[in-house]
Amino acid sequence: MTPTSLFTSLRSPWALSVCTALVLSACGGSSNNSSPEEVAASNKPQVFEQSTAPKKLSEWRMLLNDGKTLSLNAGVLPYDLNSALFSDYSSKLRSIYVPPGKQITYKADGTLEFPIGAVITKTFYYPKASPSDTANLGVAKQSGKAQGSSLDLGSNVLIETRILVLQPDGTWSGLPYVWDADQKDAQLKVGGKDIAMELVSAGAPSQKFTYSVPTAQSCQQCHSTASAGGAGILPIGPKARNLNKSYEYSAGVVKNQLVQMDELKLLSGFTGLATAPVNADWRDSSQGLEARAKAYLDVNCAHCHSSRGAAFQSGLMLDFNSVGQTTASTVQWGVCKKPLAYGGPGAPYRYGIEPGQADVSLLLYRMSHTSTGDVMPAIGRHLNHEEANSVIKDWINSLKLPACL
Ligand code: HEC
Ligand code: HEC
Repeated sequence: MTPTSLFTSLRSPWALSVCTALVLSACGGSSNNSSPEEVAASNKPQVFEQSTAPKKLSEWRMLLNDGKTLSLNAGVLPYDLNSALFSDYSSKLRSIYVPPGKQITYKADGTLEFPIGAVITKTFYYPKASPSDTANLGVAKQSGKAQGSSLDLGSNVLIETRILVLQPDGTWSGLPYVWDADQKDAQLKVGGKDIAMELVSAGAPSQKFTYSVPTAQSCQQCHSTASAGGAGILPIGPKARNLNKSYEYSAGVVKNQLVQMDELKLLSGFTGLATAPVNADWRDSSQGLEARAKAYLDVNCAHCHSSRGAAFQSGLMLDFNSVGQTTASTVQWGVCKKPLAYGGPGAPYRYGIEPGQADVSLLLYRMSHTSTGDVMPAIGRHLNHEEANSVIKDWINSLKLPACL
């Protein structure tokens, strides 16, 4: 399906919809005497709020599943990020839906502003693999990049789909759905779920681990709006600098994501690519080491390690604007910074970052351990992200700053 045809359906009369995008209500159910218009309308994406959220993911109709392929419904746009959150090597299919006629407001800095009724989905999946122990779900790392708007269910296994929806009162709600073993639908599981998995990699021993689907309550720990544990949640990824990359929407149709959103009239106030900021892809070794490290720490750590995050009290700021700056205090991003609350492994580890000495820097230590109390990010990670740790290691070793006393 071409990007254009994805959206042509938006031009059809939405007034026919039994549940218009403005009225967010639970109306995904089918009635016995549906008119043809009602049937057509019920095939369109449906928007709910927390109190009316359906038990089954299929009722949102953001994702369609015919048993062979998972695909995005018409009007639902896939997106990817220059640098993304590591979640135990899972792959992710992300999508944005905005109600017909509504637009996202462009901002050069910070998260884009979404209209009421916007729905962002993130589906976690892995390429299938054979585990050594059949009690575990066998999974593999993905090779290649995110592309297109569908997934082959023959070769991939779906784990969970997380939804963020902007409700009529202007607050976001976060909803975790867990895919059934038969892969036909996913169920709302506000209590989350632990899944025994085994990561199978060619040429390396397989790794057993417990994959955790977060509880609805814990979305807040990362998607927080305030360091003091404000009740609200916010999207994290959709920032101009992270969306500013090309995406292959369908075979051969490659476009910059911001341009695509603008052309589809989903974006207002976009000032063009020439003025749009861009994050590094931390995997791209042709880019500068500092840019790669900053981009990785920003998307993996800054939602907690920033003025509005859960780790604000630690004083360690790992957001894009703090890391690497030498004009204000370098202590702020960990250089020669003694941990505040963390006991740590003891000598020779003393500081968050010792310039030139990655092997004794606590920042890398916490990224390369999975034990409770040490592991960073504090939740959501059970495996070490070896490829990223080696970038952070090289970056710390490359830092030309005075040695710590
Ligand atoms: C460990 C931290 C963490 C937890 C816990 C967490 N998220 Fe996220 N989430 C992130 C980060 C970081 C991103 C952006 C980067 C990415 O998409 O890779 C993100 C992205 C998303 C997105 C895509 C839109 C966006 O904000 O970028 C959705 C939807 C989402 N999360 C839903 C949820 C829901 C629902 C929960 C709770 C059930 C949850 N998340 C729990 C860290 C977290
Ligand atoms: C889900 C929230 C969360 C995320 C995400 C997170 N952290 Fe933390 N981090 C914390 C909290 C809370 C503390 C304070 C308690 C502690 O030290 O364990 C902390 C403390 C730390 C400390 C000790 C800081 C000090 O000076 O006291 C380091 C180092 C650290 N984190 C590194 C990281 C890195 C690197 C990342 C990203 C790869 C990361 N963290 C992501 C919550 C988080």
